[in-house]
Amino acid sequence: MSNSISLTRYLVEQQRTKGRITPELRLLLEVVARACKRISISVNKGALGDILGSADSENVQGEVQKKLDVIANEVLIEANEWGGHLAAMASEEMDTIYVVPNRFPQGEYLLMFDPLDGSSNIDVNVSIGTIFSVLKKQNDRTDAIEPVSEQDFLQPGNQQVAAGYCVYGPQTTLVLTVGDGVAMFTLDREQGSWMLTADQVRIPEDTKEFAINMSNMRHWDAPVRRYIDECLAGKEGPRGKDFNMRWIASMVADVHRIMTRGGVFMYPWDKREPDKPGKLRLMYEANPMGWLVEQAGGAATNGRQRILDVEPTKLHQRVSVILGSRNEVERVTQYHLEAD
Ligand code: AHG
Ligand code: MN
Ligand code: MN
Ligand code: MN
Repeated sequence: MSNSISLTRYLVEQQRTKGRITPELRLLLEVVARACKRISISVNKGALGDILGSADSENVQGEVQKKLDVIANEVLIEANEWGGHLAAMASEEMDTIYVVPNRFPQGEYLLMFDPLDGSSNIDVNVSIGTIFSVLKKQNDRTDAIEPVSEQDFLQPGNQQVAAGYCVYGPQTTLVLTVGDGVAMFTLDREQGSWMLTADQVRIPEDTKEFAINMSNMRHWDAPVRRYIDECLAGKEGPRGKDFNMRWIASMVADVHRIMTRGGVFMYPWDKREPDKPGKLRLMYEANPMGWLVEQAGGAATNGRQRILDVEPTKLHQRVSVILGSRNEVERVTQYHLEAD
């Protein structure tokens, strides 16, 4: 396709023509995209590449790490530490932040990532992904000893300057926003380049498809139970239409379906661990996905407020997630507010 636009050209236009991003942020996003390409090569090897199965280690979340969790984390660290655009990184797979070593130039951006999302699907050959979020280091620290700390990362999602995910599925697709809508780039493996295959993506405001782990039903709060019961009642019920259900257990794959054809995704609070607001992590799952969904005309709340307005207090804090087609998210949120 002669008018095919590569990721590089898209980012140069965002920098030069639209003035939305700096050269350093453009470079950072190119590096992250290259790291995702490398991760996709490992993913595609499967059993041929000794990347399946458990790494026999546990992460800060208390999850047993898969080999690919660790591999993907290392790829992202190594790709990003020496480029000069980052001050530090944070990952689902690391207890504390990773400050760019003094031997490398430090930048002004902070990168957070879930290096491998949907780990329970790695060994069964179902789509998985990488999620990332970029913030700017806000306060210029004076103390030279600690140039950057976890505190710098604790910014609400509305401060993100870039967010995206890469889904390793039948196609390898990078989905990105820098605040100018959502663009999708499909990896052309013959050339090794990311090619623009969708721009200004829009999520339909209505849907007949919900995504939730139904096995947790008995643990849900009343508003979630009310919403799902109404969906299950179909056209004879109060919604007057039949619904379909999908649950891939890879947030990246479920969100990509919603970005492509609409739907509502929910991982709500449940009473098994009442002090935990939910399973998903705010900084590197809910915030990047929340911004992408909003940039595509959808909505993302924790049941009571916009996810991007949640003020973080801990790096790995969890949050209840309801995101996707705007009218459905607003309905579920309304049910929560009515119940309060
Ligand atoms: P991760 O593999 O990065 O730990 O994330 C898994 C998350 C998310 O991708 C998915 O939506 C959810 O866990 C699935 O949870 P259940 O296995 O409880 O359905
Ligand atoms: Mn995990
Ligand atoms: Mn995840
Ligand atoms: Mn993960």
